[in-house]
Amino acid sequence: MSKTESKGTGAGDGALEIKDTRTGSTYSVPIMPPATEGDTAIRAMDLRPIKVEAGEFGLMTYDPAFMNTASCKSAITFIDGDKGILRYRGYPIEQLAEKASFLEVAWLLRNGELPTQAQYDDWTHQITFHTYVHENIKTFLSGFRYDAHPMSMLTSTVAALSSFYPNAKNIQDPEERHISIVRLLAKLPTLAAFCFRHVKGLPIIYPDNDLSYVENFLSMVARMSEPKYESNPVFTKALEVLFILHADHEQNCSTNAVRAVGSSHVDPFSAVAAGIAALYGPLHGGANEAVLHMIKEIGDVKNVAGFIEGVKGGKGNRLMGFGHRVYKSYDPRARIVKKLADDVFKVVGVDKDLEIALELERIALSDDYFVSRKLYPNVDFYTGLIYRSMAFPTDFFTVLFAVARTAGWLAQWEEMLNDRIRRTGLFDVAGLFSRDGQEGRGSEIGLTVRSVPRSWFCATHRVLAPDTRGSARSAPCR
Ligand code: CMC
Repeated sequence: MSKTESKGTGAGDGALEIKDTRTGSTYSVPIMPPATEGDTAIRAMDLRPIKVEAGEFGLMTYDPAFMNTASCKSAITFIDGDKGILRYRGYPIEQLAEKASFLEVAWLLRNGELPTQAQYDDWTHQITFHTYVHENIKTFLSGFRYDAHPMSMLTSTVAALSSFYPNAKNIQDPEERHISIVRLLAKLPTLAAFCFRHVKGLPIIYPDNDLSYVENFLSMVARMSEPKYESNPVFTKALEVLFILHADHEQNCSTNAVRAVGSSHVDPFSAVAAGIAALYGPLHGGANEAVLHMIKEIGDVKNVAGFIEGVKGGKGNRLMGFGHRVYKSYDPRARIVKKLADDVFKVVGVDKDLEIALELERIALSDDYFVSRKLYPNVDFYTGLIYRSMAFPTDFFTVLFAVARTAGWLAQWEEMLNDRIRRTGLFDVAGLFSRDGQEGRGSEIGLTVRSVPRSWFCATHRVLAPDTRGSARSAPCR
């Protein structure tokens, strides 16, 4: 795998000359040096001296949805929506999806570089051996009603973990931070699977530490009476890649929630619980569910053409799973997911709902209404279909998203703590952040900073395809 070199604008230091027509005064506001991806900004605090009367508070910026506000400096993820680019730490998402495992990506997001083989082995070992949760969590979970939404359960149980690890609040201690990060990554799949089993009324399945991260998750979700669970390798691969694709996406609503709550120096279990709560909202984590609801509403492949006409005429709903506020040429994740979907459909076959989805896609991709508006399938169009094909219930889709995004939230949380300009109270207005369900918007939300030299790391680092051992003997969740 190779990193993409960042390109700054090359612009030198500059300043913004501002004239206040109320007073006739002029002000010079320094423009911050461009980040290596070329993003530029001014400091909002530099506007504070602009005032009419000496006793006034001073000028502020108003940007309730963070449409043009860099809330932080971040070197983790970069998005160029016009060019369809998504990179983690400089690595194109396409390369990571093809060659990395989810745990490698989790390491990369946190540490800025892919692990060596020794680092990877140690990281995997640590996460594998923290997968168990305290038995009291089972008692806690049993208090939920049979029809509780799995995201409510997940939010609460992750928040509850904070009470099991009181030392996690020592966030200034790197060792405590590390063990909390390991615990969260290790226990999220366990808690998610426990929530799944509770709703289904099935006994919980304990982690199997002989299995990979994804295989173990599938085992905890789907294992019945067999002594050893073997996942279908196509499903394992699909879930591994989907976890990688969802691991981070710049400064979106839930990531801002984690940073905002974490900025109070609370423990990371509480901060991640806040991220899960933010993701639960239908404007953020729920679009793939909406695709499935739309397909159900269409009902039959013969109704697709009429449905599309309704969309075009503005009579019906939008075509869910098409279009993106950030990606305007294409969503790079959708291309990868489309290929995965084809692989999964080969295993499960094409049923009525899949036929509807494929016909929607076929018509939309050739219809001038969608082509001229650059409305291509986004990541959510296919992910819902894949999850459904693997027999995950619709309300569990966002839980899968949360398990994967925990890697990004934790990397962003630690980056925020390490940012020396951060201080408690920085995010007083962050709760207003929402982008109509969209995720981050390139450099406009977070100022992307790149400072690490690129290519010389690659030779020594591990480039390994995810282990997809196992046979097709038993299909998960079916
Ligand atoms: N179906 C039909 N028409 C659409 C759609 C759609 N999905 N999306 C946009 N349009 C039309 C819209 O009516 C408008 O037409 P006109 O110019 O004639 O008025 C034009 O395209 C531009 O629309 P817009 O609202 O200005 O576009 P936007 O970029 O602000 O919206 C969007 C982006 C994602 C909100 C929108 O495409 C949409 O609602 N899509 C369906 C919901 C969806 O799939 N959301 C998941 C997004 S992926 C989230 C993630 O990254 O995880």
